[in-house]
Amino acid sequence: MRTQVAIIGGGPSGLLLSQLLMRAGVETVVLERATRDHVLSRIRAGVLEAGTVAMLEEAGVGERLHRDGLPHDGCYLTDDDLMVRIDFRELTGTPVMVYGQTEVTADLYAAQDALGAEILHEVSDVVINDATTNAPYVTFTHGGEQKRLDCAFVAGCDGFHGVSRKTIPEDVRREFERVYPFGWLGILSETPPADHELIYANSANGFALASMRSEMLSRYYVQVPLTDKVEDWSDARFWETLKSCLPTGVADTLVTGPSIEKSIAPLRSFVSEPLRWGRLFLVGDAAHIVPPTGAKGLNLAVSDVFYLNQALIDALTRGDESGIDAYSDRALTRIWKAMRFSWQMTTMLHRFEGEDNFAAQMRKATLNHLAQSETARRDLAENYIGLPF
Ligand code: APR
Ligand code: PHB
Repeated sequence: MRTQVAIIGGGPSGLLLSQLLMRAGVETVVLERATRDHVLSRIRAGVLEAGTVAMLEEAGVGERLHRDGLPHDGCYLTDDDLMVRIDFRELTGTPVMVYGQTEVTADLYAAQDALGAEILHEVSDVVINDATTNAPYVTFTHGGEQKRLDCAFVAGCDGFHGVSRKTIPEDVRREFERVYPFGWLGILSETPPADHELIYANSANGFALASMRSEMLSRYYVQVPLTDKVEDWSDARFWETLKSCLPTGVADTLVTGPSIEKSIAPLRSFVSEPLRWGRLFLVGDAAHIVPPTGAKGLNLAVSDVFYLNQALIDALTRGDESGIDAYSDRALTRIWKAMRFSWQMTTMLHRFEGEDNFAAQMRKATLNHLAQSETARRDLAENYIGLPF
C-alpha cells in the first residue's frame, strides 16, 4: 500500500487531520487499533474554543455542532458560597461551545466516510520505520495479515499510550511531567444541569465540576484519591459529595438521578519534545496531556492539527518545507501556555492531600481576588476561551 500521509490513530486528532488533508487533495490512510464502536463510546470533555469550532467548520463538520452545541457566554468559579462569574463575552468578546468530544468524533467519522476515507480499524503491531529517511513506511497487522504502508510523512495521532512517541529515540526526546495526587470521578446523568453555565467549585471538601451535554444530560465530577475505585462510589455517595462541594444555593436545587456512566481519570500534565523526528510528527495526546481543569485537551490537539495540516499541504503540493520545519516550535509555544493555564486552574481549585493550612487560604484569596479584579477575570477568560493560534 502507498499513501502520502500515514496517520496512526483514529481519535479526534487523526480524523481531523485526515479530513483537512483529504479536502485539500492530499491522500491519507488512518490506522486505528480499536473498533469504531470503541472509539465512539469514550466519554471525554466537552468545551470547544472558538478556534476549535472554526477548524471543525473548515473540515466541513460544523453543522450538527451549531445545531446541538450550547454556546456559553461565561462560567462560574466558586469558593464555598462565593460564586465568581467569568463573563467570556464581556471580557473577550468570544463565547465557548459546549459539545461533547464524543459527538465531534462521530461527526468526523461521518465526514470521512462521505469522502471515502481509508480508515483501517483493529490494526495491531504498528511499527514506524525509516522515519529519518525520505522513504518512511509503516508495518502493521490487519485482518490476520502483515501489511506495509509506504508514505511521505507519518502523523503520530495515537494518544498517550501509542507507539509514535516511543519511536523517537530516548536520547532525542525530552519529557516533562507532573502527576497530581488525585483523579476525577465523572458521571453522566439524565437530569437537568445544576446551572445553565459550568461551575468549577473549590471547597473545604475538595473540587467539583458541574457541566452538561444538553438540557437533560448533565456531566458532573468530584475529585477523588487515586486509590479509589469506581465500585467505591455508589450514586448516593457521589451526589452527597458533589452537593458538599457546591455552593449551598446550587446544592439545594440540584436534581439528582441514576448515573448512566461512571469513571475515574487520573490528572496529569505531560509534554514530550520535540514534536518532529525526521518525517514523523506527533499530534495531540501522543505528545501532551493536560489535566481537564482548563478544558484544553481536545482544543490543544486541534491547534496542533491547525499548524501541521497546512505545513503538510505546503510540503506535499509545493515542496515548501518551511511549515514542517517550524511545526514543533510553533505548536510547543502554544502547548506550554495551555500547560501553564491548566496547571494553574488545577492548583487553584483542588485540595491536595496532606497540604498545610496555608494552601486553602491561597485558594480562597485567589477567588476573592478574581471576584474583585476585572483584570484577573480577563486574564482567566482569555486563556479559557483559547489563546490565538
Ligand atoms: N496503533 C493504532 N492506533 C492506536 C495505537 C496504536 N499503537 N495506540 C493508540 N491508538 C489509537 C487509540 O485507540 C485512539 O483511538 O489512537 C487514538 C488516539 O486518540 P485519543 O487518545 O483520543 O487522542 P487524540 O486523537 O490526540 O485526541 C486528543 O482526546 O484524550 C483526549 O483529552 C484528550 O481531548 C483530547 C483528545
Ligand atoms: C466536561 O463537560 O466533561 C468538562 C467540561 C469542562 C472541563 C472538563 C470537562 O474543564
